[in-house]
Amino acid sequence: MIYLDNAATTLRKPPQVSDAVRKALRSCANPGRGGHAATVRAEECVYRTRTLAAECFGLEPEQVCFTGNATDALNIALRTFVKPGDRVVLSGLEHNAVTRTLTGLGAELVPVTAPLFDADRWLEAFSDALTPDSAVCVCLHASNVFGTILPVRQIGALCAERSIPFVVDASQSAGLLPVRPAEWKAAFVAMPGHKGLMGPQGTGLLLCREQPEPLRFGGTGSSSLDQNMPAELPDRVEAGTLNVPGIAGLGAALAWLRQQNPEELLRRERMLLAFALRGLRTMGVQTWSGPDQIGVLSFRLNNLDNEEAATRYANAGIALRAGLHCAPLAHRTGGTLPNGTVRLSLSVFTEQKELEGFLAVTKRLLK
Ligand code: ALA
Repeated sequence: MIYLDNAATTLRKPPQVSDAVRKALRSCANPGRGGHAATVRAEECVYRTRTLAAECFGLEPEQVCFTGNATDALNIALRTFVKPGDRVVLSGLEHNAVTRTLTGLGAELVPVTAPLFDADRWLEAFSDALTPDSAVCVCLHASNVFGTILPVRQIGALCAERSIPFVVDASQSAGLLPVRPAEWKAAFVAMPGHKGLMGPQGTGLLLCREQPEPLRFGGTGSSSLDQNMPAELPDRVEAGTLNVPGIAGLGAALAWLRQQNPEELLRRERMLLAFALRGLRTMGVQTWSGPDQIGVLSFRLNNLDNEEAATRYANAGIALRAGLHCAPLAHRTGGTLPNGTVRLSLSVFTEQKELEGFLAVTKRLLK
């Protein structure tokens, strides 16, 4: 199979990841619950991953909270700030993890839109929308549909000037682009462990620069007499037994990523993206792209419905995703409703020969 669905999850991981998961399954008990060797091993394993993540994102270990995925992390972050009726400014590229959560919280959603790949226009539009009565601003770093990179550092500066809390969804950028919560003046940054960070599914991170409100309530192995959730991080938002095997795998992935050259990973992804783009354009395929984007490319074949195209690609051994990508707002902003697009997405393990295979199949499908 040629796997080009890395924006959904990276399937190929460094081998150390599954080794670490297996080792944790065999040797780790419940972290923070007791003092025997197997629980201490689990505690050490979780702390190792927490520390690696903290180093990676320029924070202290206790500012790194483990969640089940980016959606959980965004739920915690948004619930911290949003009450029914609150005005929330968001990019018009947000995923349902943000828009459904805000809808569920009863917020007034104020989506900001601009031409997909024009960072200056995005910034201007945010500046216009960020009125002082906004309860929070939420913005993704890179779009899971179009690969657009939004100027989060500058948007964070606008929010700070206007005393509006800033939440960033780094789901598609973490592991590829530098994620800098402090430089972005972000209250919270959310991300999954299983995409660019190369960890297992069922892992996510909430990076906290402010005190979050818990989403779940329960045991933490600490302050057990107190019937309120502890004030301290990370316990405040980590009720219940953690996904220790997943966290062990994520730790191995972060250790592997730390040994790579980030500029080289990005350069390579952009080179592969340019290769795919050139190939599609040569065949007259409609694409959505810009001067500065991550390795996520939306396109459409003019002779096939998107879902039908994805099925035919799958039958030819090529995995990619079609439709709305759980981000109808992004498709509205991109003008690609109601049927969305076909999307290919790369990872550090994608090879040029796989893209050659994808282009050869595309040529066949166009006939
Ligand atoms: N949000 C993920 C995607 O874009 C699942 O496919």
